[in-house]
Amino acid sequence: MKLQNFIGGQWGTSEDLKFVPVINPANGEELAQVPMSSTGAVEQAVAVAKKAQKSWALVPAPKRADYLYAIGLRMKEKKEHLAQILTKEMGKVIEEGRGEVQEGIDMAFYMAGEGRRLFGETTPSELANKFAMSVRAPIGVVGLITPWNFPVAIATWKSFPAIVAGNTFIWKPATETPMMAFEMAKIFEEVGLPDGVANVVFGSGSEVGTALIEHPDVKVISFTGSTATGSKVAELGGRHLKKVSLEMGGKNAVIVMDDADLELAVEGILWSAFGTAGQRCTACSRVIVHKDVKAELEERLLTAMQLLTIGDGLDESVKIGPVINKTALHKINSYVELGCQEGAKLLAGGNILTGTPFDQGFYYAPTLFTDVKWDARIAQEEIFGPVVSLIEVESLEEAIEVNNSVQFGLSSSIFTQDINRAFQAQRDLDTGIVYVNAGTTGAEIHLPFGGTKGTGNGHRDSGVAALDVYTEWKSIYIDYSGKLQRAQIDTE
Ligand code: UN1
Repeated sequence: MKLQNFIGGQWGTSEDLKFVPVINPANGEELAQVPMSSTGAVEQAVAVAKKAQKSWALVPAPKRADYLYAIGLRMKEKKEHLAQILTKEMGKVIEEGRGEVQEGIDMAFYMAGEGRRLFGETTPSELANKFAMSVRAPIGVVGLITPWNFPVAIATWKSFPAIVAGNTFIWKPATETPMMAFEMAKIFEEVGLPDGVANVVFGSGSEVGTALIEHPDVKVISFTGSTATGSKVAELGGRHLKKVSLEMGGKNAVIVMDDADLELAVEGILWSAFGTAGQRCTACSRVIVHKDVKAELEERLLTAMQLLTIGDGLDESVKIGPVINKTALHKINSYVELGCQEGAKLLAGGNILTGTPFDQGFYYAPTLFTDVKWDARIAQEEIFGPVVSLIEVESLEEAIEVNNSVQFGLSSSIFTQDINRAFQAQRDLDTGIVYVNAGTTGAEIHLPFGGTKGTGNGHRDSGVAALDVYTEWKSIYIDYSGKLQRAQIDTE
């Protein structure tokens, strides 16, 4: 099957384009072929999106929201179908595939609700017979560049607030996982979203991504991906005075205090470290453990890790699927080698899995290091795989300091039964998301999603906060006094 771009309500790609295979990371099977579009496709998409935006912005927001309700319902009807495709192209286990589709459905209904809110402010004027208010105004055409680890949820965090606010969008999905974008484009067509409101252009970051960022008619760029690429997006976007919203790396930690419920902590660590094979921006890749419970935690983790089943995520009994591709597999492995060279003690895993059925796909053994120094590279850099480093500390203060020592600030967690420690931690952990007695993953769509420091540039996906990315504030004054009233002067 050859995927096609969706531009202005039309499907198509010129045949002379290069197509690259979409590979199921669980077994190496070719699932589809994705076109590597040229900048011409971006030109075309921007032109139709720009034209469509003028009339879309005039559709009342509750009516725009009706399309989102329809999209959410359609996603719900197709949930299992979408989850199966998601698992095939991305590799996450089917239960997580369903969860991710659900995240998109939740976002559709939540943002549809915004169609009847989109709250601005009304405030008194300092002058008599004058009215003052602020409203959220759409910005225009927005460009969305999304990653392979959450092929649908992240796109919904960006595209749904964009359209409910009256913008139109062009979505460039990751080349590894284009099928979900193709499926979503079908849904946009099925619910009768006006042509040009939602457009999907497949292609490389260097060609299609760059063209979107440089195009003068694309006013906002929202990007999720690595910090290295995000910095380039910001640099290029800055040169073109774009509003750029970035969601990038993480090096998230679970803190386990000496009073923690260790059974619960183990469950939280396993889920957030090895779920999605560790390929979440929010994945736990450090465990900062109090010295008094370190030995017991290590033992409990090792026992629990032995029960993790690894394999094709379509098999309901499998807990950990493959990683996305060979490059990822080797990157993870080289970090593990580095960890050993840095003097960390390897307690479990540490190898690429071989033999049947692993040879056909890309599987890495869940890996646990201990006695890791807080400033070791494996404790500072994002690995994006199923690798966890245990770091010993002596106090809550030290745990917080170690947590905050990395260049990223997405998610953090503390296991403690002491309310005072929990509150101190939520205040002092320098991350955009903090969990108490839960792992580092599991963000819900109605709260802002994003991080501090190298994780982002101050914007947030999801929640009402996402509307700030896709709207401009417009302040409106209506003077009904019938005379000139000068602000700050005629106020006596
Ligand atoms: C990501 O890893 O980029 O909180 C997104 C979570 C999910 C979203 C993760 N709801 O882990």
